[in-house]
Amino acid sequence: MKHILFELDARRERARLGGGERRIEAQHARGKLTARERLEVLLDPNSFEEFDMFVEHRNSDFGADKNVIPGDGVVTGWGTINGRMVYVYAKDFTVFGGSLSETHAQKICKIQDMAMQNGAPVIGLLDAGGARIQEGVGSLGGYGEVFKRNVLASGVIPQISVIMGPCAGGDVYSPAMTDFIFMVRDTSYMFVTGPDVVKTVTNEVVTAEELGGAKVHTSKSSVADGAYENDVIALEEMRRLYDFLPLSNREKPPVWPSADTATREEPSLDTLVPENPNKPYDMRELITKIADEGDFFEIGGAFARNILTGFGRIEGSTVGFVANQPMVLAGVLDSDASRKAARFVRFCDAFNIPLVTFVDVPGFLPGTAQEYGGLIKHGAKLLFAFTEATVPKVTVITRKAFGGAYDVMASKHIRADVNYAWPTAQIAVMGAKGAVEIIFREEAKDAEKLAARTKEYEDRFLNPFIAASRGYIDEVIQPRGTRFRVARALRMLKNKQVPALWKKHDNIPL
Ligand code: HXC
Repeated sequence: MKHILFELDARRERARLGGGERRIEAQHARGKLTARERLEVLLDPNSFEEFDMFVEHRNSDFGADKNVIPGDGVVTGWGTINGRMVYVYAKDFTVFGGSLSETHAQKICKIQDMAMQNGAPVIGLLDAGGARIQEGVGSLGGYGEVFKRNVLASGVIPQISVIMGPCAGGDVYSPAMTDFIFMVRDTSYMFVTGPDVVKTVTNEVVTAEELGGAKVHTSKSSVADGAYENDVIALEEMRRLYDFLPLSNREKPPVWPSADTATREEPSLDTLVPENPNKPYDMRELITKIADEGDFFEIGGAFARNILTGFGRIEGSTVGFVANQPMVLAGVLDSDASRKAARFVRFCDAFNIPLVTFVDVPGFLPGTAQEYGGLIKHGAKLLFAFTEATVPKVTVITRKAFGGAYDVMASKHIRADVNYAWPTAQIAVMGAKGAVEIIFREEAKDAEKLAARTKEYEDRFLNPFIAASRGYIDEVIQPRGTRFRVARALRMLKNKQVPALWKKHDNIPL
């Protein structure tokens, strides 16, 4: 009997070694942790239960049968993060470069199925060379099965991908269909086809980092939502993110104890907006002063920086913040900002996370670059996303809310629930100078008359009271009391329900 127990231990020991000491050392030499080490950082101590440790591939082509490693290049199972359940898979680069075989795919599919059924997120840690080249079509089928489950799970459970090494070929499309992608700087890269193929097909010479490193994907392509210095920081930040998310669309977001009172006033907000309406100020300051304990988990921070998106808490419960950032391009809405915010709004709506929107927007960005790039369709994405969202929506206009961008930024007209404005708000079709130059074209040629007409327009329109007189603004509030007003509004909206017209699904302008 005893030798059978020893046998189990020995088999486990062997499986845990993955591709062996030499390859583990190579992994460490590159500044990367192994798959199991990563899971230890990600999950609560001793909470990981591994499945399918003894699964082996069944391929015999190209000598594959001489190289069979239990686990087959991916570590799967479940554990907890701060006590809350999560399903995980971590690609093991030491086994066939983490490449995906038919059996490797089956292991991932098993936890995807469990996650959907049992209502808990999936976090995938990727570090892999794509399809198992020795396997051919079995691997392609395996990818298809994983992709299908990513789509079925979308909007049912949160799905997070962390890229911690190579991620190429078939490996890129599963992350692309998850809710968030994070990368590790300098050690991870993502592309559909690598530098060698690029050189052959297009004659371009490019390094892996230039083609698909963290900088490219967080600031240029917007494929990734954030990047971190190393494996440990990335995984610790995933634990932090996880605490904001509900386990599934069947749940409300978690509520954590907070020492921060809802009634906390912030007198400094009274002077956040400068006297000069053309001077920028940092909208991030407003978010961190409103959120519990100043905790803000930003999503997409390096891309379309003219809009801020991310998670915070009010009275211990998660909210999604969307805010124009006057520090960058005066907070204008362009295609990238619209796409970024639309995706974030849709995530929040899918997972019952209320939206708090701060508005200071001079309009949509004019120009051929934007129009040729499809600003109409991209801007419509944000308009569509805010309108269809049925979660509680609280909006605060701090300064400019001009033109179509006023409507788009969670205005009353598109089903926001509570709309506040600071006394500094300016809600109008456009800024005073532009308006006067159009409606008083002749007078505008004279500098004195232009100044007088501009002042007249400013006095008449550039305030919150005309919108308030129509009920487009529910209340004009003191900046210092914003946290309390938002908290009270969210309390009031706690049991919000919106009956929906029957439809199969909508047709957001993609
Ligand atoms: C089988 C693979 C592999 C793969 C790597 N290995 N990729 N084994 N299938 N796809 C193995 C290597 O043979 C090696 O084994 C070990 O993993 C480490 O690989 P190295 O090349 O030594 O590491 P490194 O120099 O860091 O380069 C990593 C790499 C490179 C950039 C990922 O290995 C690479 O380019 N691999 C192939 C990538 C690729 O073309 N994949 C197929 C994409 S097509 P040993 O025994 O020496 O340790 C695809 C289509 C699917 O995915 C589409 C579905 C929609």
